[in-house]
Amino acid sequence: MTDDKRAPGQTNGLKPSRRKFLSMGAAGGLSAIALGTNDVEAQEINCAPVSGSVAWKQPGNNEHVRALQGAAQQAAGNELVIDYFGHTAFRLTTPAGFSLLFDPWRNDPSGAWGLWFPKDFPRIVVDAVLSTHAHFDHDAIDKVDATSVLDRLVGKFSFSDVTITGVADKHSTDQPGWYKWIEAVKEFGADPYPPNNPGHLDNVTYLVEAAGIRTLIWGDNRANPPEEVWNAWGQVDVLTLPVDGSEHILSFEQGDQIVERLKPKVVIPTHYLQKGVSSTLTTLQVADAWVDRQKNKRRLTDPRLVLTADGIKDFDREFFYFGDTAQHGQ
Ligand SMILES: [Fe+2]
Ligand SMILES: [Fe+2]
Repeated sequence: MTDDKRAPGQTNGLKPSRRKFLSMGAAGGLSAIALGTNDVEAQEINCAPVSGSVAWKQPGNNEHVRALQGAAQQAAGNELVIDYFGHTAFRLTTPAGFSLLFDPWRNDPSGAWGLWFPKDFPRIVVDAVLSTHAHFDHDAIDKVDATSVLDRLVGKFSFSDVTITGVADKHSTDQPGWYKWIEAVKEFGADPYPPNNPGHLDNVTYLVEAAGIRTLIWGDNRANPPEEVWNAWGQVDVLTLPVDGSEHILSFEQGDQIVERLKPKVVIPTHYLQKGVSSTLTTLQVADAWVDRQKNKRRLTDPRLVLTADGIKDFDREFFYFGDTAQHGQ
């Protein structure tokens, strides 16, 4: 676009930002990083082909959702089923049978961050898929057969016997661990800090209300969101938190402080090195050391957790650690 052919509404003589972008796909902190300065020619380098929706290729259809729609919230039972697919991927299934998958993972399509996952995310069918943010280890929504795609949803979604509240905040930045991956964002010319951060360092947390249980999907959110975010969450019963031995997203202390503030009944560590799911190339470590220092903890041997509001009502910050246990199929 030249200056004399501005788009409607583009006035006052300001030139469009002429930044040079290296579009590396949704990388773990490096996607769409601005390169160079404002005085270089606008240029785009696409390391991966841009793909549109692939929903038309999905073998499933919306018959299950239609059945739930007609059932008018007739939940069978009171159980919330949580299936862990490794990293930060969870499937929640409500008593009525509505299934939601959060943060399916994939490898960085640009290759910039290396291979994190030796296997593909299992091909599964769900009613809705959601992603907290546009990093490759959270956003493989096209790898899932889902009737609804609620990508980075902000605000309320209500259907059947579930209500989801998407609360917009920001990704963690200055990681306390040895691997300062945020420095790479800076090296490639971007300002990672709000309000100027690139979009891939936004993060949506999801509060899921189902079966009388309030579950918070943290994603890679920062440890110190503003008060309005804490207020939007309110009481949390089940808290997922990305803490691993390398402190890639949150430190042990930050994790402890969040747990102390929210006082959830159940805490589920995420985003750690997991045999059979993630690779040493992630630089992640297991979460054992963080879990070990907690007062109440249990190591799970089944990737499926079935909770009821009554069953967890007396729990106090009880850590449920999946370790190397994960679902590898439907
Ligand atoms: Fe991330
Ligand atoms: Fe992540």
